[in-house]
Amino acid sequence: MAKPIHKAIFPVAGRGTRFLPAAKVLAKEMFPIVDKPLIQYAVEEARDAGIGEFLFITSRGKAALVDHFDHAVELEQALRERGDEKALQSVLPPSGRIFSTRQQEPLGLGHAVLCAREFVGDEAFAVLLADDLILAEPGCLKQMMGAYEEVGGNVVACEDVPRELTCRYGILDVAKDDGRLARARGLVEKPDPAEAPSTLSIIGRYILQPEIFRYLERREVGAGNEIQLTDSLARTIGEIPFHGLRFQGKRFDCGNNLGFLEANLAFALERQDLGPRVREMLKGYR
Ligand code: G1P
Repeated sequence: MAKPIHKAIFPVAGRGTRFLPAAKVLAKEMFPIVDKPLIQYAVEEARDAGIGEFLFITSRGKAALVDHFDHAVELEQALRERGDEKALQSVLPPSGRIFSTRQQEPLGLGHAVLCAREFVGDEAFAVLLADDLILAEPGCLKQMMGAYEEVGGNVVACEDVPRELTCRYGILDVAKDDGRLARARGLVEKPDPAEAPSTLSIIGRYILQPEIFRYLERREVGAGNEIQLTDSLARTIGEIPFHGLRFQGKRFDCGNNLGFLEANLAFALERQDLGPRVREMLKGYR
C-alpha cells in the first residue's frame, strides 16, 4: 500500500534573476497570474490533492510570502463590513497548517528539499515548484496521487519537450512507457541535447519517499554546481520504483517572462468574467 501523503514542500528561496527589476524586493512567487500570486495556485493545487500541511523553504527577503497565508485582520474586517464575500473568501488562509524554514545558502533544489527533512520525518511527501503553473482539471498533483496509488514509490509529473530544450530539465532514461506512465531506469539533470537519454522531462511536481534524504544528505554537487534533487532521485532507482506521469493539462514555465505572459493570458481566457473581454482585446494586436 502506498504511504499516504499529508505534507507538501514549496521551495521558494530562488532569487528570480530572470525577473529583474520586478524581483528586486518582491518574491517572484508573489507575482500575479491575473490577480492571484503564483504561490497561491500551487498551495491550492496541493490542498485540492488532500494535503493539509504546507512548508515553505524561503530565503532572506521572502517574508511577505509567508504573510500572504496568514490572516489579514483589518482587510478581512473591511471586506466583511462591505459585504464583499467573494473578495473575503479569496484572502482567507487555506485550511491546514502553514510552516516555513529558511534555506540560508542558495545551494540548489536538492539542498532546499533537504531543509525539510525534520518536517517530513518518515513520511512520503509532495514537492511543488510554483514556477511551473499547471492549468488542469483535476489539478496535476491530484492526478499524480491517482498514479501514486497505482504504482507507489517516487512519482513525478513529466512532459515531452523539444530535444534542444533538454538542457533545462531533469530528463528520464525510460525503461518502460505506456504513453501515460513511464518507468525510469535513470535520470539526468539538464543533459546536452545530444546526450539526453530521452526528451521526457520532469515538471515541478514530485511525490517522494523519505529515503531520498539519505542521498540528499551526502550533499553531492551536480549540474550548475548545485545540489540537485534529480541526482538523489536517480540514486534511489533500484531501491524505489520511479515513474513519470504525463499529466492531462497545460503547463506554463513562469520562471521566464514569455511563459509568465502566456500563463496570464491563458488563465484570463479561462475566466468567465474576463475571457470574452480579453479575447476581444487581443483582436487589436493581430
Ligand atoms: C528544476 C529541476 C529540474 C526540473 C525543473 C522543472 O530545475 O532541477 O529537474 O526539470 O525544475 O521545472 P530548475 O527549473 O530549478 O532549473
